[in-house]
Amino acid sequence: MADAGSSAKRAKLAVDERDEVATVDVIARVKSGANISGLDAYRALYDSSLKDSDEFWREHATRFVSWARTFDEVCGGTFADGDVRWFAGGKLNVCYNCVDRHIPTKGDEVAIVHEGDEVGSVTTYTYKDVQREVSRIANVLKSFGVRKGDNVAVYMPMMAELAFVMLACARIGAVHSVVFAGFSSESLRDRINDARCKVVVTADEGRRGGRTIPLKHTVDMAVAMCPTVEAVLVYERTHADIKYSSKDHKLTPLLEAARPFCPCEEMDAEDPLFLLYTSGSTGKPKGLLHTTGGYLVYAAITHYFTFDYRPGDVYACVADCGWITGHSYIVYGPLCNGATTLMFESTPLYPDHTRYWDLIQRHRITQFYTAPTAIRSLMRFSNDAMAKFDLTSLRVLGTVGEPINPEAWRWYYDFVGKRSCSIVDTYWQTETGGHVVSPLPGCTPLKPGSATLPFFGVETALMDGDGAEITGNSVSGVLCIKRPWPGMARTINGDHARFMVTYFGAYPGYYFTGDGAFRDKDGYIWITGRVDDVLNVSGHRLGSAEIESALIEHEFVAESAVIGCPHDTKGQGICCYVVLTADAVESSDLLAELRLQVRTTIGPFATPDYIIATPGLPKTRSGKIMRRVLRKIIAQETDSLGDVSTLADPSVVDILIEKANEAI
Ligand code: PRX
Repeated sequence: MADAGSSAKRAKLAVDERDEVATVDVIARVKSGANISGLDAYRALYDSSLKDSDEFWREHATRFVSWARTFDEVCGGTFADGDVRWFAGGKLNVCYNCVDRHIPTKGDEVAIVHEGDEVGSVTTYTYKDVQREVSRIANVLKSFGVRKGDNVAVYMPMMAELAFVMLACARIGAVHSVVFAGFSSESLRDRINDARCKVVVTADEGRRGGRTIPLKHTVDMAVAMCPTVEAVLVYERTHADIKYSSKDHKLTPLLEAARPFCPCEEMDAEDPLFLLYTSGSTGKPKGLLHTTGGYLVYAAITHYFTFDYRPGDVYACVADCGWITGHSYIVYGPLCNGATTLMFESTPLYPDHTRYWDLIQRHRITQFYTAPTAIRSLMRFSNDAMAKFDLTSLRVLGTVGEPINPEAWRWYYDFVGKRSCSIVDTYWQTETGGHVVSPLPGCTPLKPGSATLPFFGVETALMDGDGAEITGNSVSGVLCIKRPWPGMARTINGDHARFMVTYFGAYPGYYFTGDGAFRDKDGYIWITGRVDDVLNVSGHRLGSAEIESALIEHEFVAESAVIGCPHDTKGQGICCYVVLTADAVESSDLLAELRLQVRTTIGPFATPDYIIATPGLPKTRSGKIMRRVLRKIIAQETDSLGDVSTLADPSVVDILIEKANEAI
């Protein structure tokens, strides 16, 4: 079983200790010519971004993005009315901004470097190549009747063609909904149906970590229950001998026949750009909608400042395009800035744990962006192997997705960055579109474990349990944002009421992130994790409700409660408490079956670490499950369970402790 139990020992800073952490003032390689130099410069620009917000965003929207028609208004609407809009009246096309406009000056420069699953299987695409490939697939999509405003589901491995499809949708005004290729057919089906997609783009198979992933097979199972889908377009990644039905179309001949130029559709700043599904604390996943102008401006400006992007850099974000990180920081932000962006199809451990170092050395990578979970899995190996690689091209090292523990931060800084690189611990969410709290290289003195200070235009606030804003420093609370920013999601597909309740209901007038935070004596923000029932497993967001409903579908599960538990590499593991039905017999086979049930219903990344059968759950007399008690039990913090006398049946606690001890 996983090593979740021992992780309780992982060094965790107590709140007051955070105030004692000294800043690390590194940044030797960044300092000269940084895009913004020094904390004073940051503070001056940050202050003006709030004080003269319209002026700040007008200037930067024009600097980072080319508009076919300039906007009439910078920002309109309010959180309270749920009608926030940016750059109203402005016309633009995202694909034009990410591809075509760079061609006169850098048409022959590399836009995308693709490193395949096998070491050294590299393909490069210049901006001209990208324009041609994107145009071809755009024309194919059009030939299948895809028009402005239509939703297109994309279920693909990390092929360069995944970026081409995203850009092609943007080019013709279609709205892509990329579904991470690790999701199950049921998850894919629900997302396709929610967005009423009429076309699905996929590949025959994926390759990752030396393994083959049967993507088309998964699509077949999903699409069988998707009445809106008219066509499935299939890239040939492995050329496997798979089944093609009448709805399925091999893309190879269609692309060969397609015209390599497709005009860009002129879009309104507030027209939809993409949907991306993410988990919430309750109910089914939400399809967050991002729009055209504000999102692009925000992705580009954050990419530029947070990564200290400079022409000539080779920038690498090793995330998957199936998540927001891939959207904003593999595709849209870097390409809008005319950068060379690397797409990585493999894993940090394939063929061995030196893959990242080899990648950095061979491509002379300048900015490297990954997740704390990958860092933790690599720091277990001896550093000797890493020392053989030349990592001196690096200037900025980024992390995203979950809090980075100081130990992992130190290792990243000392051994990967050789104490010469800036670490950017970027805090943000699918909903925020781009970084909202992050250090800026060459500018922000760093503190290991802190995401530091808000990005320009982002006004953070900490709220207390009564809904009031907490002022001053050295305080903890719930992290909110006080005013609109261009990259924020505009709605949940088909359910604006849910959007309003989820994000603006808890603290009227504020955007609620769902995360807790500590603001230290210097005003630095330390994210402490979710305050709702959302789990963060290896930087992947999962709702406990989703996992619970997967379990309850099993005939022998009467009730379940799912919580996150500490895990050494994954940050959080998944712990499921299940109450079996009266006719069930508890056995290791049955528990294994339940684990498989979650895996097949959601996807392999949601595989539970623990499944604990129990005769009952700790409930209050009104029937509410006390998750706090469950969390403490699996974290082996039973000496601080708190008051359990209000439970309907307090005796269940002892049984749970015993069962959890057996499982660990
Ligand atoms: O809990 C926070 C955590 O990830 C959540 C957002 O997940 P998702 O929408 O999937 O986007 C992940 C990539 C942006 C947040 O609510 N999170 C993200 N970045 C950090 C973080 N927690 C701590 N530190 C971070 N740098």
